[in-house]
Amino acid sequence: MGVAGIISQHVEFLRRFLANPQQVGAVAPSSRRLSKALTEPLARRTKPSRILEVGAGTGAITRHLIDLLGPDDHLDICELQPDFCAALERDVLSLPTARLVRSQGRIQLLTCRVEQIDRPGYYDFIVSGLPLNSFDPETVDTILDRIMANLAPGGVFSYFEYVGLGRITRHLASSATRRRTRAVRDLLKQRIQRHQFARRTVLWNFPPAYARHWKTS
Ligand SMILES: C[S@@+](CC[C@H](N)C(=O)[O-])C[C@H]1O[C@@H](n2cnc3c(N)ncnc32)[C@H](O)[C@@H]1O
Repeated sequence: MGVAGIISQHVEFLRRFLANPQQVGAVAPSSRRLSKALTEPLARRTKPSRILEVGAGTGAITRHLIDLLGPDDHLDICELQPDFCAALERDVLSLPTARLVRSQGRIQLLTCRVEQIDRPGYYDFIVSGLPLNSFDPETVDTILDRIMANLAPGGVFSYFEYVGLGRITRHLASSATRRRTRAVRDLLKQRIQRHQFARRTVLWNFPPAYARHWKTS
């Protein structure tokens, strides 16, 4: 992608963030380094896989996932906001590789909430750009239950969290936001203890982030 493309992707992203900060949950798309860290387990796979990306936004991680697809892999892309889906169609799914794979029926764009995807045990990899820390605890619980149920045995769920978010919230947020984010952090902590097998710190991202990888138990 050229400089003009990168700038327009960032402008589109920021515009959507300002329109709906809680749902978008980030001021800039994920960097290439973060996309790479999130797809590390997937890049090491040894068999054809079913992959789901959730919260694709303007497609920063989607582009990387499409580059990694082998001849027998399938990718479903889930994004809630129709405007982001239009940007994905225009800027990512129109690229020659994506068009070819899609014409073979191996890429699907799903304009829906991740909570609506009900395919128990189906996906080998689920990669998320969802801003879990912006949601309320009940939503996070519902989303994570659904994601883990949709993973095949031994399947991997990868997502990111911004470094130091807890500290920033403690100092800057209102008491209601502090209570909400503490509850989300507590429930994530329990699930991290149960499922996490790897964590990478990615400084080359705005803001710096942890890429976390979980396995079904
Ligand atoms: C932080 S942005 C991530 C964008 C992109 N993946 C990246 O890393 O640059 C989060 C995206 O999740 C989408 N989203 C929020 N809630 C969702 C839900 N319940 N189901 C599917 N997508 C959702 C938002 O519309 C937004 O595009």
